[in-house]
Amino acid sequence: MTSDDLLKVASIEKQSTAFPWSLKHFQDCLKAGHQAWVMCDSDQQIVCFTVVQKVVDELHLLNICVQRQQQGQGFGKTMLNHVIQHAKQLGSVLIVLEVRRSNAKAQSLYNKAGFNEMSVRRDYYPAKQGREDAILMGLDLDLLSLFGASS
Ligand SMILES: CC(C)(COP(=O)(O)OP(=O)(O)OC[C@H]1O[C@@H](n2cnc3c(N)ncnc32)[C@H](O)[C@@H]1OP(=O)(O)O)[C@@H](O)C(=O)NCCC(=O)NCCS
Repeated sequence: MTSDDLLKVASIEKQSTAFPWSLKHFQDCLKAGHQAWVMCDSDQQIVCFTVVQKVVDELHLLNICVQRQQQGQGFGKTMLNHVIQHAKQLGSVLIVLEVRRSNAKAQSLYNKAGFNEMSVRRDYYPAKQGREDAILMGLDLDLLSLFGASS
């Protein structure tokens, strides 16, 4: 992801999530040096992106999003696998992320990739009515390599 991608990235984010990151938020992530990728379809149009942050020996998955009309076609899974491979190359021991309690689709994606629920952050997110919990999920890469899994 480069600064040239950000208008499109912010537009995908706005269409696909109820509480989207702003354009400035994406700009700040790039300025801060967070690693970020976009994935394009066969017409070279961006359909998916992700932003991660390396924190010592952990990788924090800050955002992953697929354009609304393109969801359910494997883009999210492919991008998540890319993040997992990247974390392994970095030698990270853990990938962590937060997901809304109501976001069953994303939780299913993470569960299938081997993530486990670690804890709950009560009232972490703004919601349409009041606040919503975040589920903190983690993928232990040491355990993955110990048991020879290859997700
Ligand atoms: C969550 C998201 C990234 C998944 O990406 P996607 O491209 O739609 O998902 P994929 O087609 O790669 O499917 C991967 C897995 O996600 C889950 N999934 C996908 N669509 C689903 C649906 N309609 N209902 C339930 N689970 C679903 C399934 O576990 C699926 O695995 P399967 O194909 O083996 O059944 C995407 O839907 C999205 O961008 N949502 C809005 C933004 C968001 O919620 N981001 C996550 C913030 S924590």
